[in-house]
Amino acid sequence: MTSQNAGLISRIAALKEERKAVILVHNYQIAEVQDIADFVGDSLELSQRAAATTAEVIVFCGVHFMAETASILSPEKKVLLPDVNAGCPMADMITAAGLREMKEQFPGSSVVCYVNTTAEVKAESDICCTSANAVRVVESLNGGDIIFVPDQYLGDYVRGQTGRSMHLWPGYCPTHVKIRPEDITERRREHPGAKVVVHPECRPEVIALADETLSTGGMIRYARRTDVAELVLGTEPGIIHRLKKENPGKKFFVASEKATCPNMKLITLEKVYWALESQKPEIKVAEDIRLRARAAVDRMLEVP
Ligand code: 13P
Ligand code: SF4
Repeated sequence: MTSQNAGLISRIAALKEERKAVILVHNYQIAEVQDIADFVGDSLELSQRAAATTAEVIVFCGVHFMAETASILSPEKKVLLPDVNAGCPMADMITAAGLREMKEQFPGSSVVCYVNTTAEVKAESDICCTSANAVRVVESLNGGDIIFVPDQYLGDYVRGQTGRSMHLWPGYCPTHVKIRPEDITERRREHPGAKVVVHPECRPEVIALADETLSTGGMIRYARRTDVAELVLGTEPGIIHRLKKENPGKKFFVASEKATCPNMKLITLEKVYWALESQKPEIKVAEDIRLRARAAVDRMLEVP
């Protein structure tokens, strides 16, 4: 830790106390930001924390849809996203109007939206899901067709796991599609004893070559419980910091350094400090949209 960082970290801690704030951080954030977190987790764990916290201010170190979900769940709290430009390009691949058209095309289908969507898209959906619970969410729905938006690869994975009839929106994560099957083959050659764990946002050809397909939280738990000493991770490299910190005896390798999410890297310690100081940028959702989006998020949180 540099002395400049040490000063900034203690100023953030003091301001956090003064503002009665909590700092929630996604597993892909830069190491310095993960290290000042009250909680680090995946999308599902972070939304559960946001729903349960008694803090007055939530500083969300992640991307826009995550902060928006926190605001949907806790409208009475001030939700700050330290860089308002930290978006998710996959979430921007579908609009509420686009989803309404799809619903007209497949009437009677249940609508499942990945949490990586805007509040407007959640408001048009029956139930939300994350990569950690997508299979369970789809299994919780009674028979009939399912519209799944916007990630075609997560949707394809869930369809394979559940055997359900699913209509998929053609969205994708521009970061995870950078991982190629050749990357997995090469890493296996370099680390023959390693297990390969990939995120369900990866392309099906990549998932087919993996030992496990898990959310980022699932990867953290898998790394703790496995006896294997080496893991190759098919996901965003930010996760390696936490894996190494929690499992000093094990080795972790990324499938591809190219799969870095530029939006996740926008949040810095300075921006966290300025967000706490200025109480901006605040993420808020119009009340009519929020109530409809909340119903889809609440339904997800009720799935065991
Ligand atoms: P997780 O919910 O697995 O953390 O994934 C979030 C995400 O944006 C993956 O790209
Ligand atoms: Fe969106 Fe992909 Fe970045 Fe996750 S890694 S926030 S899905 S662009």
